[in-house]
Amino acid sequence: MAFKIKKLPSFFLILVQSMFFEVVISIENCTTTKGGHWVELQRSIGISAMHMQVMYDNKVVIFDRTDFGPSNISLSHHRCRFNPHDLALKLDCTAHSILYDLSHNTLRPLTLRTDAWCSSGALTPDGSLLQTGGFNDGYTTLRSFTPCPQHNTCDWRELRNHSLSNSRWYSSNQILPSGKIIVVGGRNSFTYEFVPKNDVASSSFHYLPFLKHTRDPNRGEENNLYPFLHLLPDGNLFIFANRNSILFNFTTNKVLRNFPTIPGQEKRNYPSTASSVLLPLNLTGLNGTRLPDAEIMICGGAYPGAFSLANTLKIFLEASRTCGRLRVTDSNPVWVMETMPTPRVMPDMVLLPNGNVIILNGAMNGTAGWENAANPVLHPVLYRPGLVDQFPRFQLLAPASTPRMYHSSAVLVPDGRVLVGGSNPHRVYDFRANPYPTELSLDAYYPEYLGTEFDSLRPSIVAVEATNNTASYGKVFAVNFLVREYRVGGVGVTLVAPSFTTHSFAMNQRLLLLEVVGVEQVAPSGYRVVARAPPSLAVAPPGFYMLFIVHAGVPSGAVWVQVK
Ligand SMILES: *[C@@H]1O[C@H](CO)[C@@H](O)[C@H](O)[C@H]1NC(C)=O
Ligand SMILES: *[C@@H]1O[C@H](CO)[C@@H](O)[C@H](O)[C@H]1NC(C)=O
Ligand SMILES: *[C@@H]1O[C@H](CO)[C@@H](O)[C@H](O)[C@H]1NC(C)=O
Ligand SMILES: *[C@@H]1O[C@H](CO)[C@@H](O)[C@H](O)[C@H]1NC(C)=O
Ligand SMILES: *[C@@H]1O[C@H](CO)[C@@H](O)[C@H](O)[C@H]1NC(C)=O
Ligand SMILES: *[C@@H]1O[C@H](CO)[C@@H](O)[C@H](O)[C@H]1NC(C)=O
Ligand SMILES: *[C@@H]1O[C@H](CO)[C@@H](O)[C@H](O)[C@H]1NC(C)=O
Ligand SMILES: *[C@@H]1O[C@H](CO)[C@@H](O)[C@H](O)[C@H]1NC(C)=O
Repeated sequence: MAFKIKKLPSFFLILVQSMFFEVVISIENCTTTKGGHWVELQRSIGISAMHMQVMYDNKVVIFDRTDFGPSNISLSHHRCRFNPHDLALKLDCTAHSILYDLSHNTLRPLTLRTDAWCSSGALTPDGSLLQTGGFNDGYTTLRSFTPCPQHNTCDWRELRNHSLSNSRWYSSNQILPSGKIIVVGGRNSFTYEFVPKNDVASSSFHYLPFLKHTRDPNRGEENNLYPFLHLLPDGNLFIFANRNSILFNFTTNKVLRNFPTIPGQEKRNYPSTASSVLLPLNLTGLNGTRLPDAEIMICGGAYPGAFSLANTLKIFLEASRTCGRLRVTDSNPVWVMETMPTPRVMPDMVLLPNGNVIILNGAMNGTAGWENAANPVLHPVLYRPGLVDQFPRFQLLAPASTPRMYHSSAVLVPDGRVLVGGSNPHRVYDFRANPYPTELSLDAYYPEYLGTEFDSLRPSIVAVEATNNTASYGKVFAVNFLVREYRVGGVGVTLVAPSFTTHSFAMNQRLLLLEVVGVEQVAPSGYRVVARAPPSLAVAPPGFYMLFIVHAGVPSGAVWVQVK
């Protein structure tokens, strides 16, 4: 092999050291990393982490609801919220949202003026969080949060001049190729609409009868709230609710296809809450011209009647044990069912940078809703979608010590950890509840790949050779990285879109395995990989993505790139 030392063009070389950070593995008394391990980052962040979104400045916007009384963190001076209609607390000087700094493990309170309970959100192409809906005074509210890495004093903005056209409580969002965001469903809202509200096309709403047909009629059952949305590579939208799913052209309001009903009696959406991911889109070998296949995977849920039994009689049925995979780009797709090691309702499914899926949080019995579940599942499960004909694809991982039941959440963060917080199955903050007190703590799950035994295989990114860290559609760009023990053929480049996660659904979560054009050695332990940016807006909607180098299955820390 020729050892070519290639000088990096300094104009294009953007040093990214300050944009990612080392994973600090300084766990006392940590005897094993088999199956990963857990670290409690904060005993209390002052609020329960019902909703989470990672931002491009390595901070996480976290928020809960506002209408139950005081939280455990005060607002900064003069920011108290007075609401004469709030039954619990009319003058509230506590915060119901925080900004958590991943690099420093610190946080500061943020100010929500209206109730964002059970709402939805998505990042806009410029990396702001556009958050939609909530409860009562928040039903039609639009809010935005724009990162401010320079001064770190930014706060929520309530966009009072731009209301949603319909009430959005338990709705789901997906960013579209145009950069606009579709907001689908919500309690008694059998419609969808687009945000931001800055043009005529976004000024009203559209009916979607599918949302009415999939709703179960019993009081509180519904079983189709927080519908699962996934933007497919052809630009159409996959929508799943209850047990059914459609391929939908949101421009013409046409259902293009009805997919087969998922096998089994289990219902999969709130309150019979399952989770859903679009499995990694593999762009290698497509020569930038063909579209990748797309496969959806849905795990967990609850049996018919589970909500009513839990809600009225406190009988907690065993949850679903199954996952279903549907290759939606096939001409005749069929669900392929697999069995998880344990039953699980309210799971979170997080795509790891190496293309595996981690299933964590939730309970073995009951459903979502207050006081409606029992038997927390403490063990996360690893699922390796790429293992062909090799079962089981599931592997039990190191257990958490904190139950994460209703109103908990989990997100992948740029250093490859999974941030896990929340859990409050009660109407108010109840720290004495036994056995499931309101959880204000924040944990990190360290997947096995972060263990020291992988140090020599773990790549670290030195620089992205792309102006302003921008990956332009269809264009090649290079990434320079270091790795001690290089394995030929072992380099992958992945882009991961950070999700808005709540109620077990990671909205906008998306992982692309990019086409690698070539890898060359440029220095001792130094390599340069050339990859092709995603081919189209539908394959990768515009915005900020975490770019990881994966070497021999071990991911680097991420660098943020903007796809546009
Ligand atoms: C580690 O173990 C020692 C001895 O058992 C104990 O004193 C110490 O508190 C432990 N540290 C942590 C962080 O758990
Ligand atoms: C919340 O605040 C109360 C009152 O200050 C305190 O007693 C309690 O320990 C706090 N709870 C948690 C979980 O931090
Ligand atoms: C909202 O509308 C009011 C009155 O039309 C206007 O004065 C104000 O500037 C607008 N605010 C924003 C943020 O656009
Ligand atoms: C939706 O339908 C319109 C009209 O037929 C078509 O122009 C558009 O390409 C379709 N969208 C997708 C993503 O196929
Ligand atoms: C991606 O596709 C390429 C080409 O078909 C294949 O060789 C590779 O194994 C795939 N990777 C994964 C992770 O599925
Ligand atoms: C890749 O696409 C280019 C045109 O975009 C074509 O010239 C070339 O033959 C294709 N290569 C393969 C292997 O399909
Ligand atoms: C959970 O379900 C199993 C199977 O039906 C049942 O045996 C068990 O008692 C249930 N647990 C609780 C806490 O309800
Ligand atoms: C890169 O970013 C700078 C600062 O925001 C801007 O002035 C410049 O035009 C950008 N360059 C390109 C090619 O987009």
